[in-house]
Amino acid sequence: MDGTGKTFYITTPIYYPSDKLHIGHSYCTVATDVMARYKRMQGFDVMFLTGTDEHGQKIEQKAEAAGVTPQQYVDNVVAGIKELWKLLNISNDRFIRTTDDYHEESVQKIFKALYDKGYIYKGSYKGKYCTPCESFWTESQLQDGKCPDCGRDVVDAEEEAYFFKLSAFQEKLIELYEDNPHFMEPESRMNEMVNNFIKPGLEDLCVSRTTFKWGVPVTFDPKHVVYVWVDALSNYITALGYGNEKYHDFEKYWPADVHFVGKEIMRFHTIIWPAMLMALDLPLPKKVFGHGWLLLEGGKMSKSKGNVVDPVVLVERYGVDAIRYFLLREFPFGSDGLFSNEGLINRINADLANDLGNLVSRSVAMAEKYFGGTLPAQRKAEPLDDEIIGMAKALKENFETQMESYAFQNALIEVFKLISRTNKYIDETAPWVLAKDEANNPRLATVLYNLLECVRICGILLTPFMPATAPKIFAQIGAADGITSYESAGTFGLLPANVTVHKGEGLFPRIDVAKELAALEAAKPAPKQEPKAALAKQETPKQTEGVTSLIAIDDFAKVQLRVAKVVACEPVPKADKLLKLQLDDGTETGRQVVSGIHPWYEPDALVGKKVIVVANLKPAKLRGVESNGMILAADAGENDVKVIFVDDAVPCGSTVR
Ligand code: ME8
Ligand code: MG
Repeated sequence: MDGTGKTFYITTPIYYPSDKLHIGHSYCTVATDVMARYKRMQGFDVMFLTGTDEHGQKIEQKAEAAGVTPQQYVDNVVAGIKELWKLLNISNDRFIRTTDDYHEESVQKIFKALYDKGYIYKGSYKGKYCTPCESFWTESQLQDGKCPDCGRDVVDAEEEAYFFKLSAFQEKLIELYEDNPHFMEPESRMNEMVNNFIKPGLEDLCVSRTTFKWGVPVTFDPKHVVYVWVDALSNYITALGYGNEKYHDFEKYWPADVHFVGKEIMRFHTIIWPAMLMALDLPLPKKVFGHGWLLLEGGKMSKSKGNVVDPVVLVERYGVDAIRYFLLREFPFGSDGLFSNEGLINRINADLANDLGNLVSRSVAMAEKYFGGTLPAQRKAEPLDDEIIGMAKALKENFETQMESYAFQNALIEVFKLISRTNKYIDETAPWVLAKDEANNPRLATVLYNLLECVRICGILLTPFMPATAPKIFAQIGAADGITSYESAGTFGLLPANVTVHKGEGLFPRIDVAKELAALEAAKPAPKQEPKAALAKQETPKQTEGVTSLIAIDDFAKVQLRVAKVVACEPVPKADKLLKLQLDDGTETGRQVVSGIHPWYEPDALVGKKVIVVANLKPAKLRGVESNGMILAADAGENDVKVIFVDDAVPCGSTVR
């Protein structure tokens, strides 16, 4: 396929700024990067967009908890996200932040245009209100009918809001899907959307909020901010300059060739987004691909569960290309996949160290050993060669068929079929036997040449997946620039007859499975316990891998520990994990302590119990609530905490030492 003069616009979702993106987040971005690199190799003028989705109440609250402004909070986190993409060798052409001025300007224009066209109207939003928290909730956000933040009763409430006439697009969306059976992929996603969302009837969508500030204000009614999904989805066109003067590529790249998104946000991209575009009279994206989730045993990787896998750790240990390869080879792109360290290491060993790595190193080593690195020009072909030459010639087309349908796994399987077949060819031809007699030199040169050509073709097709490794392969087999282009993968026999190889380092060292599994286990991030971590920062000496640096007895004596009784206990509003405890510590006034143990203890379970409190800790404020000391608790497992209770016979105020 010749893409000369044609454009290809591909996007990832824009990520919520979370301080640690995990391997599941990296999956989509790596896949998008592979596609972008592949299309560039084909000669397309590619626009690869990624970015961050920075508005909304959650961010506002996180910033508040961290004691910084929302802008400071997102600036800090986004810097980390950009670092991660650099580490993963992501070649995005643009990076959009929804807090960028030009984007906000465009969102305001889009909102106003929809309002002027009558697709946005003012109405009221019925829901529930938690008076102490000043929070507005929908029925479905409640937990057991109570405020999800503080657990208290809520009351009926009505809030003024703007609505988008999504209901007006029901028929048009069905038409869109019927006329474009490949609009959604995998195809099964289409049934899911139609049956679960369209058929039950589309309701108008609430697209403004007045209960928080961290968003794009509605120009003509500034106490409202634009609903985050309207803000976020718009990024795909504002990043091209739609509604702003920052960029001027809208005509050139829109409509997008494909949006890659995780399956859980398919509905926003295949219902709300096309409806918004229809309302704006804009062309629709050609395709939305909903990829599956990476799961860990026990469910979806998620930060709140504390079961995330850190891509930085994996890249540091195994190299970026091994991780990129693994992600796309191990799991079919449209389905969920179970991630395990063992699966990763076995895959690297089997495919990269053994199959690919050995093929390259053996081929090059034999050319050096038998011919001093430069092949003689004389040849002797045999029928035995036909099969691998035939496979090599057909590979580019087979690979392309898979890539064009976003079947990354199958595309890689095609390449590795040739790699395995070529390794077998070494055994069949036994070059070490041929090398025993100089008369066999033409035959030996032919065998080695065929090996190097197969490596060259595989190397080219692997380039989008392994952009750091491919050039190393080309250098070792003596393939100059002109014969590493995508086009040249379609022709067998382009290496010069007297090619010179250059032995290099092994591409993928074999990994000791048992040793690495233990090391990865040790590198696992601790389950997330925000408030506890915050306390730990100011109170305990730095711990490394479970070992605290040694202290003298005098140091320990500085810590005053006292027995205290919990006389009252309640949750801290707007903080999932914090409990506020009133303690009788034997003093007249008692003391108040805030502790991050709500995930493990309900207030009632603590009242009346005796605990140990660190009595001489500097006071701190957690979510605005004063805390004087901390109570002792043990990390009792992966994600479990147990408070240390003391026998009721011990009087309040007793010293613990
Ligand atoms: O949804 N496996 O952002 P996000 C695979 N801001 N993919 C995963 C994953 C996992 N375990 N966990 C997350 C948002 N993802 C919105 C998007 S677009 C206009 C706005 C994927 O940071 C997830 O499916 O929660 C999604 O596609 C992407 O990471 C970003 O998720
Ligand atoms: Mg999400």
